[in-house]
Amino acid sequence: MRIGVVGLGYVGLVTAAVLADKGYEVVGVDVDERKVEGLNCGRVPIYEPGLKELLTRSQGRLTFTTDYSRLSDVDVAFIAVSTPTVNGRISLDYVLSASRSLKVLGKDSVIAVKSTVIPGTARKVRELSGREVVSNPEFLKEGSAIRDTTNPDRIVIGGEAQWAMDLVEKVWSFTNSPVIRTTWEEAEMIKYASNSFLAVKISFINEIANLCERLNCDVNVVAKAMGLDPRISPHFLRAGLGYGGSCFPKDTKAFLSFSEDLGEPLRIVGAAIQVNEERPLRAVRMLEEVMGELRDRVVCILGLAFKPNTDDTRESVGLKIASLLKEKGVRVIGYDPMARTESVEQVSTKEECIARAEGVIVATEWEEFKGIEDLLKEKYVVDGRRILDLSKLKRFRAVGYGRMTEGRSP
Ligand SMILES: NC(=O)c1ccc[n+]([C@@H]2O[C@H](COP(=O)([O-])OP(=O)(O)OC[C@H]3O[C@@H](n4cnc5c(N)ncnc54)[C@H](O)[C@@H]3O)[C@@H](O)[C@H]2O)c1
Repeated sequence: MRIGVVGLGYVGLVTAAVLADKGYEVVGVDVDERKVEGLNCGRVPIYEPGLKELLTRSQGRLTFTTDYSRLSDVDVAFIAVSTPTVNGRISLDYVLSASRSLKVLGKDSVIAVKSTVIPGTARKVRELSGREVVSNPEFLKEGSAIRDTTNPDRIVIGGEAQWAMDLVEKVWSFTNSPVIRTTWEEAEMIKYASNSFLAVKISFINEIANLCERLNCDVNVVAKAMGLDPRISPHFLRAGLGYGGSCFPKDTKAFLSFSEDLGEPLRIVGAAIQVNEERPLRAVRMLEEVMGELRDRVVCILGLAFKPNTDDTRESVGLKIASLLKEKGVRVIGYDPMARTESVEQVSTKEECIARAEGVIVATEWEEFKGIEDLLKEKYVVDGRRILDLSKLKRFRAVGYGRMTEGRSP
């Protein structure tokens, strides 16, 4: 089977690499010439564990181009272009433009939409492309994208024509994962409902953390006991500085405005967004509480990627905290093992970052930030991700930790 992948970002590139590794002939198309040129020279534009190796291994079966006509003989073309939220609403521009370009496909080819899109989009893609369309939402997580694509929890296949759904199911037959067949709209809804539910869960435990900070409570103890109830489960029940990244913030907002347009506003999702947007400011306030006036002082942010094991800084909480601190006249320096950004002065080791600063905020739970308490002894610390041994720190605040600490006002 020949496969096309349109959009070579986190989703498209991983999809292309995994499918080529499984033996398919894959053509990857992107409008970004520099990206395509780089990929053809063996440069991988993103950091994702195992991706470089996978791309090297599948070289002969994988080609990259900006030329859509190279897709004319593929059996299935996956759309994996971005779907940003602009002013709180999803922008389908890239998906619709890709759909128009996919008129080059043969009449028996199928388009599978992987991009996260509001219900009703697959129908539009069919109108614009004149080809059969299947909604095949993506659930991979950056940081474990290859494992998630090779062995997904579930494969959702939404559509109308059985033969088209059969074909897309066949592409994924190497996974042995459960397949759920649905309508287009159900498939599109499953993706948004899943992401929104996870966002709600995170914001829920973060509000419990706020409450714990005012009591003799540790949110980690509370969450641990809650999570032992299988109806609740421990996943996504870790208090922190909130969710970031390219998906949850944009998807919750797009889903909320979509629900409002239908006259059925998702109030719980709205509350989750609001709670999440308050998290960066809360981290700054915690630092102020323990350190006092921040102006002209140096603060180090540990972690600029939105989560560990990725270099993705989209909607990163660390960067949001950095800009709030700068507004307050703070001199901000940052360190991240992988992420590179122009918006903060970055140093090349955590040791240097900590040594140069008076205050330290742990914004991302990278493995290498665990066990660094000795470096932090003389610093003012905000543990925004609860990865430090608080018993070894002197002047700190920690998310969801309400026990009395030195420097805390009564
Ligand atoms: N990143 C994730 O973890 C993740 C997980 C699940 C679902 N998704 C969804 O998958 C989609 C893609 O996400 P991403 O993070 O891979 O995006 P991305 O921004 O990393 O990559 C998108 C790529 O599409 C290309 N592109 C844009 N318009 C194009 C066009 N008309 N033709 C060809 N290429 C075009 C861009 O140049 C870019 O390289 C989004 O809808 C996102 O919500 C993302």
